[in-house]
Amino acid sequence: MNTEVLQRTARELVTAGRGILAADESHGTIGKRFKAVGIESTEESRRAYREMLFTTEGIGEYLSGVILFDETIRQSASDGTLLLKVLENQGVIPGIKVDKSTVSMPLRPNEKYTQGLDGLGDRLPEYREMGARFTKWRAVITIGEGIPSQACVEANARALALYAAFCQDAGLVPIVEPEVLIDGDHTIDQCDRVTEWMLRTTFTALREHDVDLAGILLKPNMVISGKEASEQAGVEEVARYTVECLLRSVPAAVPGIVFLSGGQTDLQATQHLNAMNSMYDDLPWELSFSYARALQQKPMEVWGGDAQNVEEAQRIFLHRAKMNSAARSGSYNQEMEDEEKAA
Ligand code: 13P
Repeated sequence: MNTEVLQRTARELVTAGRGILAADESHGTIGKRFKAVGIESTEESRRAYREMLFTTEGIGEYLSGVILFDETIRQSASDGTLLLKVLENQGVIPGIKVDKSTVSMPLRPNEKYTQGLDGLGDRLPEYREMGARFTKWRAVITIGEGIPSQACVEANARALALYAAFCQDAGLVPIVEPEVLIDGDHTIDQCDRVTEWMLRTTFTALREHDVDLAGILLKPNMVISGKEASEQAGVEEVARYTVECLLRSVPAAVPGIVFLSGGQTDLQATQHLNAMNSMYDDLPWELSFSYARALQQKPMEVWGGDAQNVEEAQRIFLHRAKMNSAARSGSYNQEMEDEEKAA
């Protein structure tokens, strides 16, 4: 394992003003997202959609990396250039999702377990040779009546740690994603407790498996009220809860924390990240983004599967990336959104 290269890549992914686009939706997930906006999901529509995103001029200014799905890393743009090369030409580092999605925990139908460890060590070298430099694995924790269970928290943390060890062994930077879901009517305090529990358990497992913490990135949820909770925490409250929880749970050796958007609206995801970066300085890690929905929602709608809408969809995508780039330094404000509307 070349720790120096891993650490350099991890730091590069969280350079100032840039963040990550998660474009690694599985067939099932992209199918759902496409259906919601009236696009048929085919190999060609998925390819064309991702080409639209990746060929957006100037996107490398705001994106340091893009997470791809296995199908996408093998696809090419209409001019024959591999999509992965399109990203590299934009100065963007290609990454790859390597988990095999979730199943119900055995005997615990309301909880999830992420699969994909079997054969993982054999799958990674190919991705590395293709040009991927980092990976992602998502674990899912649900808050509800009597859950999460210790069994679920520990099994998923253990899988995350083994995944991270396999990746570092293969020369790839692992993004470790323990997501506590926003679904449910839980309070922000419940989210806080479960997030801290999951993070502490994950870092204990990472240490047990000798993972170099300076060569990973953490991709957590923000600490936030459940989507159906009657009382919704405000922007500054979410920012404060989130940073305080991370300060209690995440070692300073980790170079960066790249949040998922997890069902927040695009504006909320930008506002929350901005608030954290404006309310705190001197944090031990960079606070950045690795959003899927919060970056793609509007551009996907506007594109709608029609080549005629590519330019407009790209304009909207670039704007959203720029807003999140500003949130990286706490310099985002509402006027920046208004300017876009006026344009
Ligand atoms: P969202 O930003 O839509 O939560 O997706 C991030 C992600 O990569 C989930 O694994």
